[in-house]
Amino acid sequence: MTVKNVSVIGTGYLGATHAACMAELGFDVLGVDVDPAKIEALSAGDLPFHEPGLPELIRKHVASGRLRFTTDMSQAGSWADVHFIAVGTPQQRGGTGADLTYVDAATESLAASITKDSLIVGKSTVPVGTAARLAELVEDAAAPGVEVSLAWNPEFLREGYAVEDTLRPDRLVIGTRRPEDEAILREVYAEALERETPWISTDYETAELVKVAANAFLATKISFINAFAEVTETIGGDITTLADAIGYDTRIGRKFLNAGVGFGGGCLPKDIRALQTRVAELGLDHSMRFLDEIDQINLRRRKKAVAQAFELLDQNIEGKKIAVLGITFKPLSDDVRDSPGLDVAARLYSAGADVAVYDPEGNRNAAARYPRLGYVDSLDEAVTAAELVILTTEWNEFKALTPADLEGKVAAKRFLDARNVLPAHDWENAGWTFAQLGRKLNR
Ligand code: UDX
Repeated sequence: MTVKNVSVIGTGYLGATHAACMAELGFDVLGVDVDPAKIEALSAGDLPFHEPGLPELIRKHVASGRLRFTTDMSQAGSWADVHFIAVGTPQQRGGTGADLTYVDAATESLAASITKDSLIVGKSTVPVGTAARLAELVEDAAAPGVEVSLAWNPEFLREGYAVEDTLRPDRLVIGTRRPEDEAILREVYAEALERETPWISTDYETAELVKVAANAFLATKISFINAFAEVTETIGGDITTLADAIGYDTRIGRKFLNAGVGFGGGCLPKDIRALQTRVAELGLDHSMRFLDEIDQINLRRRKKAVAQAFELLDQNIEGKKIAVLGITFKPLSDDVRDSPGLDVAARLYSAGADVAVYDPEGNRNAAARYPRLGYVDSLDEAVTAAELVILTTEWNEFKALTPADLEGKVAAKRFLDARNVLPAHDWENAGWTFAQLGRKLNR
């Protein structure tokens, strides 16, 4: 098969990025989504979320004609050689497992609409065993005389670097049952292969597990250092120096050892919960039980940030203006899903504080979830007359802050750097009561 036409089912974060990048690689691409508002926006070249470089790429290929969007699945079924499934697998409402409703529905409706030989490629993060189940479904739904098969190709993109990670992935993992299917994907990813990107050809189960294992490892690394932060903030010591020192050991590595208010977002928290749930279904609860502790350590960090705020305000928080800087789960994103900063702000608000939230990109999404927090449009507005400033997301604008920037604006010189990104001594020398997560409070 020569691959020319590619469809991407689901045009959220993963799908919109994948569709634009496939067009950039030279394919004709059709993005399909059940949400007409999303399709209308994308067709007009508008991106409904913040991701650096992606709006430009979408506009470029909507204009070039290589990228189109539709709500009509049958268009994809009769046209594309390769279909990527990129719908979400959120945490179940009221449960800890992954909600597979969208993956199942997308696969069923796609398989029923396919009228030419083609390959379906799952990219969504799914519990192990899903691909084998979907393969049967696809086989059953295939029209007589039409050959359709399934491959699994997990996606490792990071928000904020989605375009770069998709165009230049650090590895490609391909789970297939037939060598012909792998050959098709070699054609799709020819450019990455030319750059000698590692190519891992494997079975469905390994491909599915690689994704959740990677995220579980990253979450574990973060909670590992945050567990030590609990120790250093009690007995003394410097968590950042500790991370630097162990990070020089190349077997350990320094990345993902930044202690602070912990991990959030649409992937790490739900993926470690879904993995525990899935292995429990397989009768292996004990195997991933440690991930429960990883989750608990992570959630304790948010409570610790709130406790630190109380301590800095001498337990008297009622009516006090607190500036919360950063509400997205990480910089370069407007995503507030499971955001530690938003959680901290909401807890302080519930405790009676007058919370002023400022985030360069996240205010709108945060306001949709917690409308009652006070959202402001600038750093200055947030810190003016604040009794306490808390840095919860390390946007560059906040990392560049100096004591002089806030001098004369705040009502009291109290700062909680919940991401450990500012030089404590500079702030203390300028007369601030300066706290960090992982550091014993000097007062
Ligand atoms: C993650 C994975 O990195 C990516 O490979 C996968 O495809 C999707 O999930 P993402 O959710 O975009 O990507 O965020 P990531 O950069 O991994 O950060 C996750 C969270 O961990 C953020 O809240 C971040 O602030 C936090 N974090 C990260 C730390 O608290 N400390 C660190 O050292 C690193």
